[in-house]
Amino acid sequence: MKGIILAGGKGTRLYPNTIVVSKQLLPIYDKPLIYYPLSVLLLANIRDILIISTPEDTPNYQRLLGDGSRIGIHIEYAIQDCPKGLADAFIIGANFIGNDSVCLVLGDNVFYGQHFSGILQQARKQAEIGGASIFGYPVKNPREFGVVEFDSNNKVLSIEEKPENPKSNYAVPGLYFYDNDVVEIAKNVKPSARGEIEITSVNNVYLKNSKLDVVLMGRGMAWLDTGSPKGMHKAGSFVKTVQEMQGFYISCIEEIAWRRGFISTEQLHEIGENLKMTDYGKYILSLREE
Ligand code: G1P
Repeated sequence: MKGIILAGGKGTRLYPNTIVVSKQLLPIYDKPLIYYPLSVLLLANIRDILIISTPEDTPNYQRLLGDGSRIGIHIEYAIQDCPKGLADAFIIGANFIGNDSVCLVLGDNVFYGQHFSGILQQARKQAEIGGASIFGYPVKNPREFGVVEFDSNNKVLSIEEKPENPKSNYAVPGLYFYDNDVVEIAKNVKPSARGEIEITSVNNVYLKNSKLDVVLMGRGMAWLDTGSPKGMHKAGSFVKTVQEMQGFYISCIEEIAWRRGFISTEQLHEIGENLKMTDYGKYILSLREE
């Protein structure tokens, strides 16, 4: 399975923070925002990754993450000239995806919770068998998201993009697993009223074909909002609190790569040495003593 991180957009809701820096490069406490969705792909055991961003920001992602070999993965880059909707990722990434299945994660989505790895492996398996696997997460402000409608037996009836009158409080987070059909489906999606090729339209095609699996995330999962300065601040505090309480770091990509066997203990040590002036680096160095 391939992985795509969509890290485009202008980030206007965070101005002036994002006038010259891409939103997904801003810090959530001690690491750039993009580390969080990147860690999601690593936890799903995905090592072939495409990062899509703007012409201005792509060089910065390249400087930050390079070709991925530092953490034992392969990263490519592609440019989205202007934001055309999330499903555009599959059109831009068509060659990269090839005949494979694909996971799309939005560059500003932060997830954290117990058993998350297992949830990801399951969704991956589902898409590899055929079809799509997406998630539902209870929120207080469903109007701002794609929203799932269920019947009384919890069967999914529809998904609506930013509905005026949401039919449930289950939002669809920015994490999607698809079989290879997604490329053709995305190419045939008509732009919405706001002029975007909506991921919700793609999901509705899978739903119509009875190939959509919606997995509900429970209250033990955190899906954190980074859409506003307040949201970013809260997400940063959350990460700080958990890391300080437990001593385990959230979304430390080097740690995940090491635990997954993508890099050796020697490679991990070398990365830690280069960062040892920070707590983040010290944490990496402490891992090999386990
Ligand atoms: C997008 C999707 C929406 C989804 C959300 C998750 O919204 O269109 O369905 O619930 O991401 O973050 P956007 O952030 O583009 O407004």
